[in-house]
Amino acid sequence: MNNPIRINPSILSGDFGRLADEAKRLEQAGADAIHVDIMDGHFVPNLTFGPKAVGAINRATNLFLDLHLMMYNPYDYVEAFLSEGADRITFHFEATEDVEETLSFIRRCGKEAGLAFRPETSFSMIPRYLYQCDLVLLMTVSPGFGGQTFLPEVLEKIRQTRDYCEQNRIGAGGKEGSPIPFQIQVDGGINPKTARQCVEAGANVLVSGHYLFESASLSDGIRALRESGS
Ligand code: DX5
Ligand code: ZN
Repeated sequence: MNNPIRINPSILSGDFGRLADEAKRLEQAGADAIHVDIMDGHFVPNLTFGPKAVGAINRATNLFLDLHLMMYNPYDYVEAFLSEGADRITFHFEATEDVEETLSFIRRCGKEAGLAFRPETSFSMIPRYLYQCDLVLLMTVSPGFGGQTFLPEVLEKIRQTRDYCEQNRIGAGGKEGSPIPFQIQVDGGINPKTARQCVEAGANVLVSGHYLFESASLSDGIRALRESGS
């Protein structure tokens, strides 16, 4: 398939007393990656994982580790998180004045770089960075907590981002002319219904926490999200 939908469960909704087991459970259930939310208590009013917890999750599975940094000064923590096994670091546009430096530093370290945007940040901020990163994360809730309600007004921004990529032939990794589509990730309030809306608008990487961990079976939940894109 030219544009497969990737499902990246958020371990934020897992059992923090058994992180390694939760990571293994996600791997067995067919996840494409584990999404790890890093919160600093300043950029968002919540605290979660540091580098050592990321290392413990990494050692438990072979899955791609998709880090979502909701913290100020992300540049200062890139090396610590990469040395604990992160495969991609996505940080917030709103959290640093060093967006380009941070993206290029992550890439120079040989890993994927992603850039996240809060729901209220305008589409006009996005295009210049599409050539410099591997993924754009469009938050579909206000960052900080799992289990919130999807914000449908973000669908238009997803559409604008996908249209811009298509009109300017921006593919994977921000490369012009790549036949593999650029990665547009959505995060917050994703369930089969909202997943379908996001995929129709142009998203191809879906993060989901609350819905998946509340499902009777993780593998059925992952399958239902995957089918929403077909
Ligand atoms: C929210 C986090 C999300 C969160 C999504 O700030 O970035 O990754 O875990 O969780 P749900 O799917 O519960 O909205
Ligand atoms: Zn997240």
